[in-house]
Amino acid sequence: DWIMGDYIAEAVAKIREQVGDEEVILGLSGGVDSSVAAALIHRAIGDQLTCVFVDHGLLRLNEGDAVMEMFEGKLHAKVIRVDASDLFLGKLAGVSEPEAKRKIIGGLFVDVFKAEASKLKAANAGSKGATFLAQGTIYPDVIESGGAKSKKAVTIKSHHNVGGLPEQLGLKLLEPLRDLFKDEVRELGVALGLPRGMVYRHPFPGPGLGVRILGEVKKEYADLLRRADAIFIEELNNWIDEATGKSWYDLTSQAFTVFLPVKSVGVMGDGRTYDYVVALRAVQTSDFMTADWAELPYGLLKKVSGRIINEVRGINRVTYDVSTKPPATIEWE
Ligand code: XMP
Repeated sequence: DWIMGDYIAEAVAKIREQVGDEEVILGLSGGVDSSVAAALIHRAIGDQLTCVFVDHGLLRLNEGDAVMEMFEGKLHAKVIRVDASDLFLGKLAGVSEPEAKRKIIGGLFVDVFKAEASKLKAANAGSKGATFLAQGTIYPDVIESGGAKSKKAVTIKSHHNVGGLPEQLGLKLLEPLRDLFKDEVRELGVALGLPRGMVYRHPFPGPGLGVRILGEVKKEYADLLRRADAIFIEELNNWIDEATGKSWYDLTSQAFTVFLPVKSVGVMGDGRTYDYVVALRAVQTSDFMTADWAELPYGLLKKVSGRIINEVRGINRVTYDVSTKPPATIEWE
């Protein structure tokens, strides 16, 4: 039984010793692991850390601002926000195959990050620039990559967690969460002062809304999806299950909205509408390898569907996904 305060003191000392007076860069995504790694490293070395936050335009509603507010506003960390949405959406135009989209998003991500890293180096002419790349690798990631050879031969979906980046950038690796399980990372995050909502968030895939807009990604679709999804997540947080006292957000492992680029007919007032459809997805799982669809209360579904259709002009139909994994997957792409 270890006390979190002691753990932090120890981890901070270790990071200081490893880094010395050198500089560190870290790719901040807004996810739990990179956020906790950033907070911990910032606690240890302050302004020797520069976070690079690449906004690919496929984040959720207000997500980019929230990340900046937390890390720059509250923690006073150095954060460079790169708005690369035009670049990403431009390269995704006309591409509809899921793996092709993942490859484009993952590849651009690396390109943008590398460009920022060398810009930083140039800006600090005379200094060495960053010599460390920090990553929020956690223990399960370490096991997974170590056992990669024996893993199933077929990759169902490629994850774009960046491999080989430190070598390409000529940087040393700093991975302060390598020994921790997810639960421990979350406890550490709370102890470091990160908001509970950030630390206990559902996982969000690297390609973001890029794989939640079926087929070709368009800005119009992303904007509609962001608004619909924000309503779903807000209502999941607000809907408290009486038996457990927990919100339905906390009772589900992952929940999100999927944009279907098909139009269906509806009525509004005296008129007919011909608008887009979204699907709500909410699952319960312990390992994300198998998953059950969540038996959300009908009242919650009714409220979410009513709000989406009334508040998001352009969407006139909401469906609920009742497929288990397998044979379906959690994401639709
Ligand atoms: P599936 O859809 O394969 O998802 O049942 C299992 C878990 O993996 C996440 N996922 C991804 N995460 N990059 C990621 O970082 C990806 O390309 C990706 N695809 C799926 C998914 O959100 C779920 O938690």
